[in-house]
Amino acid sequence: MATINMGSTSPAEGAIRQIDLKQASIQVQPVPLDTPAATPEENSPSDEHAMAGKKIFSLEQPTDKARELVAKLTLEEQISLLAGADFWRSMAIPEKGIPSIKTSDGPNGARGEFFTNGTPAALFPCGISMASTWNVDMMEEIGRHLGDEATARGANVLLAPTVCMHRSPLGGRNFESYSEDPFLTGKLAASYVRGLQSKGVAATIKHFVGNEQETERQAYDAVIAERPLREIYLKPFEITVREASPWALMSAYNMINGKHADEYEHTIKEILRGEWKWDGTIISDWTGTYATAASLKSGVDIEMPGPSKWRKVDQVKESLKKGELELKDIEDAAARVLYLVDRTKGLNNMTPEEPEKSVDNPETRNLILQAGIEGLTLLKNEDNVLPIKDAKKVAMIGPNVKRSIASGGGSAGLNPYYTTTPWDGIQNRFKGEITFAQGCDSAKWLPLASPYCKAESGETGVRLEYYRGDRFKGEAAVVQHKVSTDLWLWDSAPMDLLPDFSFKVKTTLTPKSTGNHSFSFASVGPGRMFINGELFIDNWDWTEEGEAMFSASQDVLKSIQLEEGKPVEILIESTSEVRPASKVSVIGRRYDYGGCRIGYQEEDKIDRIQEAVDVAKAADVAVLVVGLDAEWESEGYDRQTMDLPKDGSQDRLIEAVLAANPRTVVVNQSGTPISMPWVHKAPAILQAWYQGQEAGNALADVLFGNASPSGKLPTTFPVRIEDNPAYHNWPGENLKTIYGEGIYVGYRHYERSKIAPLFPFGHGLTYTTFEYGTPTASSTTLSETEDITITVPVTNSGTVAAHEIVQAYVKDVKSTLPRPEKELQAFGKVFLLPGETKDVVLKLNKHSVGYFDTSLGQSGAWIAEEGLFEVLVGASCVDIRGKLSFEVKESFQWIF
Ligand code: BGC
Repeated sequence: MATINMGSTSPAEGAIRQIDLKQASIQVQPVPLDTPAATPEENSPSDEHAMAGKKIFSLEQPTDKARELVAKLTLEEQISLLAGADFWRSMAIPEKGIPSIKTSDGPNGARGEFFTNGTPAALFPCGISMASTWNVDMMEEIGRHLGDEATARGANVLLAPTVCMHRSPLGGRNFESYSEDPFLTGKLAASYVRGLQSKGVAATIKHFVGNEQETERQAYDAVIAERPLREIYLKPFEITVREASPWALMSAYNMINGKHADEYEHTIKEILRGEWKWDGTIISDWTGTYATAASLKSGVDIEMPGPSKWRKVDQVKESLKKGELELKDIEDAAARVLYLVDRTKGLNNMTPEEPEKSVDNPETRNLILQAGIEGLTLLKNEDNVLPIKDAKKVAMIGPNVKRSIASGGGSAGLNPYYTTTPWDGIQNRFKGEITFAQGCDSAKWLPLASPYCKAESGETGVRLEYYRGDRFKGEAAVVQHKVSTDLWLWDSAPMDLLPDFSFKVKTTLTPKSTGNHSFSFASVGPGRMFINGELFIDNWDWTEEGEAMFSASQDVLKSIQLEEGKPVEILIESTSEVRPASKVSVIGRRYDYGGCRIGYQEEDKIDRIQEAVDVAKAADVAVLVVGLDAEWESEGYDRQTMDLPKDGSQDRLIEAVLAANPRTVVVNQSGTPISMPWVHKAPAILQAWYQGQEAGNALADVLFGNASPSGKLPTTFPVRIEDNPAYHNWPGENLKTIYGEGIYVGYRHYERSKIAPLFPFGHGLTYTTFEYGTPTASSTTLSETEDITITVPVTNSGTVAAHEIVQAYVKDVKSTLPRPEKELQAFGKVFLLPGETKDVVLKLNKHSVGYFDTSLGQSGAWIAEEGLFEVLVGASCVDIRGKLSFEVKESFQWIF
């Protein structure tokens, strides 16, 4: 088996991490073991970049060129650079050699321009699934592949990674970010950014900062004290800035301590650009700029999307006149925009933007599969129910068996090259009999009507007609064909019809059965739905906001008797007017982008639980595939409960199947913890996250033992939502969310409060066992300049090959201010054949011992206090296998 040694800038720097190249299919270049942390220069585009027709920027003073060019621009030209040209691109000034650059979402794939049905793209596992691998080398490889994917979409800037913290299990975007631990998040993000930027594509680390919830995301004020701000929420950004120098950063929607995040000078000016000396470009979140002067003054360089709402030439000039801005503010921001252009596409590179294309290659497919396998987290496995062996008949049960649950919702979603369901995955990996029962319905909204719909042209989908003005007047000005009936028009409303337009959706729906079938309809603006010319749903004057499309109405549900095979004509009328009318004054405009969603479900006359019980009883092993999906977990809103949806249907199914067949494996697909009232009855539980296009294959490989799972939880699974530290302050009241738990986030809280979790941070089993030898340290003292290396011999004491993730937590035995019981400060991943022993090498430095004290210096500093520190080496935060201690002889302080 081929193995290589790799150095890295991870805590396990220099660790011997063995990667099975055959299994991983990853070609990784060996790096000398003592490779230092990358400097911004070292992360600059390489020859490869130049070969891609791009330029290499000067290594001496990279910003000089941008500054020189800015000085040659007129004030109007400078101002024009400070906002997007359109939804995704920056402004070009061709006569001055300034091309436009293109941005693309997002964290687990490069989607390209269209939110739905865009150019097919590689769909990687979601953030928390990537994080469950704890594999920094794989993260870097993922970054490299995403660089190629972004380039294939013609994009220069990827709007990723998302590094916000998991504060509550209910966070709508937790799936997209990594962990409740800032160190793990920072290390993984730094690797991802290094990989991505090695391809000449800018990372945009987001959302800076305090964006841990989606409820009222553009209005809530995150009240965060300085210490948790530094030790928890800023920490992942800090680590990534220090180790990988992201070229761009996205400001958050929310407010922090009374100021909009994009106007908060403390975090942007004083910390990010001041203390950390970060020289990159700040992009606002989309519509996350709230004023003309304040965001420029604090240092946000580009307002997105364009055309500008706040930075039109006369608005900026007016602010200059009033003295709210100085010319230097404009010059600085414009120079930073040009710096980003220079770092990516290259100044004077006027080659036209490449059209979006798909490059579906086997290397990326393999990497996604391997990342999926390494992210699968085995929570429980009594009596070796897994891997499934010697079974002749396997029952696949659950609402997610035949659905592709590949990603969470919102800007992380994309149109994948292909998907694999658990059902697909098992077909070519199991030779025996496979049976199926859906068991229950778990959908949040009615499924999209699209598969039943044909447009006039005969193609699946709908005809979308846009009219100038909000009264459907005259001929349609633009006609589009849309495959999906999820019609959010942010990305497709024609620019020249904005802001006020009306639209009609026309399609023919053919029922597959006779019955009392249900429709659902939600619209962003006023909307109504006709069936065969008759008004069916009137949603024109809606008042209650729902969750779809960020600003749509609630779903209106209505049923109608329809006949199998007998088509009905559907017509939707809607406009871009803002609803409810009361919102107009809040968002400051009467028109938005508009859109609607049409759902459809045929009457179900089957007892699904009974069917599942019968199928389970007749099989040797039952595999239940349950969980959430992109509608339950999405950008735009938070989860309402930690329970599996909906209304207990999946919990009832699980209980019934567990009673019917004791050899039942529960596979849960979600990006956040769920409550498991049946946990003691289930012999095997596998946490399967959202794993992208290879989800079904990765799952099947692990179920049948073709590969051993190696995921470990990057977030605690609590028993009850009430146990979570943010419970009392979630999601806040009167638009204020007090981060009252302070630094005690995740395991830091459960340990301090002595609350046993359902499954602890860092926990994950596999198909073998590991023995840890006694850890040894290179020194018994740590100082500002002297690091410590810890070596832990680990032996695979079982019968199959697998990875182990070794974690090192540091405990400050005595400190002036209270500190958590212990904190993760290093980790390493090792691949071991049965009987094999290898050393895992973990590095500790000053950052491993420091905490932030606001009473020090002028406005606080990091301090390592003299005294004893313990290192607890373990397989999870509760499964500690070895201990040692070291001393800090003399206290010392630092800023960055
Ligand atoms: C999200 C960002 C995303 C942007 C562009 C915003 O709503 O918060 O993360 O990159 O949209 O889609």
